[in-house]
Formats: sequence, structure tokens, C-alpha cells
Amino acid sequence: MKFFIDTANLAQIKEAHDLGILDGVTTNPSLMAKEGIKGEEAIINHYKTICEIVDGDISAEVLSTEFNAIIAEGQKLAAIHPNIVVKVPMIKDGVKAIKWFTDNGIRTNCTLVFSAGQAILAAKAGAAMVSPFIGRIDDSNWDGVDLIAQIANIFSIQGFKTEILAASIRSSLHIVKCAEAGADICTCPLDPILGMLKHPLTDIGLAKFLEDAKKM
Ligand code: G3P
Repeated sequence: MKFFIDTANLAQIKEAHDLGILDGVTTNPSLMAKEGIKGEEAIINHYKTICEIVDGDISAEVLSTEFNAIIAEGQKLAAIHPNIVVKVPMIKDGVKAIKWFTDNGIRTNCTLVFSAGQAILAAKAGAAMVSPFIGRIDDSNWDGVDLIAQIANIFSIQGFKTEILAASIRSSLHIVKCAEAGADICTCPLDPILGMLKHPLTDIGLAKFLEDAKKM
């Protein structure tokens, strides 16, 4: 399973990259706004900087919702760097745009996916990645990890090549459960990634080894 970091924060992207386990980055308008990135030029420059830090897939989301505008915006984003994956929302014009981008050699990540039906449509349109938002599904009293397992099963039966990118990850346990359920990629904030390092028995064991090492 690949690890992406789900942030537009450059310090956090660098920290995850320095850990040596980072395969890519996902952003969205909320994450860009959180970093105070405003205006087309600033947005493009921010993506350029992220591409310089991480040599992997970088999802850049379109803000348009109408077919022609999505295409124009996606082409601009894709021109920033060969690693840019154009992130397109799961709406009717979005699916049409995903098909257009696929036919024109531009990779896409279909975002805001909350059902297996939506994932199938995105895969049929040729999306490189499909992003089920598992935390938000949990928030609405459904099981987000179950959706990952269902989509993984369908894609395996049907031979879809679209990668399942588990998004809206809230905890280290989510990451483990998504790995178990067949996600190809997990995109996570930094804390759940770092949380995977932790176990109290590791700390106790290391303290004992270091203490005993003094007697050697
Ligand atoms: O990858 C999607 C993610 O940014 C949404 O996360 O926590 O706002 O549901 P959250």
C-alpha cells in the first residue's frame, strides 16, 4: 500500500518525506485555504513547490464544476508537472471530464466518493484513482472501511485498474484497517502516520536495552 500525505502544509510534507515512506501528496480546496494559499498564481506556485519536495503523485483539485471549465482548469494543473494528478469531484460533469482526461493522457483522482456505485462510474471513466472518504462515512454512521473492502472486491472481480485511495483518514487504526481491506493507497494527515510508530512496549523495551547496554 502506498502512503500519501493529505495536506498542503509544506513542513508536514517535508517531515513525512524525510521519514522515507512517502509516495505522494493529496490536497483539496479546504487544505489549500488552511495554508492561506489564495489566487491562481499562488496555487500553481504551491503545487510546483510540493512537486519539488516529493517525487510522486501530487493530486491537485479543480475548483470548477462545469465540463468545459473543468477541462480548462485540469489542463492548466496537469501542465505544472508530469506528477500532477487532476482531482475531479464525483459529479456528472466530473465523470465526463475524467473520461476526457483519460482519453487525452491526463491522470485523474475522482474525489468525494461515498458509494460503490460512484467508484464503479469513476473506474469506467478511466480514473487513475478513486477516493472514498472513509472518515466522513464513519461520521454518518456507516462503516468507511467496509466501503473500501466492497470496492476492492468489485475492482478485483471486474478487473478495474483504478487504484483505491482511502481518504478522510482520521487515525492510525484507519490506516491498518484500510491496508487489510485492500486499499492501494492511504492518504493521511501526518499525525496518524506518526501514530503508527508508537507502542508502549517498544518504549519500555528500548529503555531496558539502553540501560543494559551500559553494563556491556
Ligand atoms: O482526503 C480527503 C480529506 O482531506 C478529507 O478529510 O477529515 O476533512 O474528512 P476530512
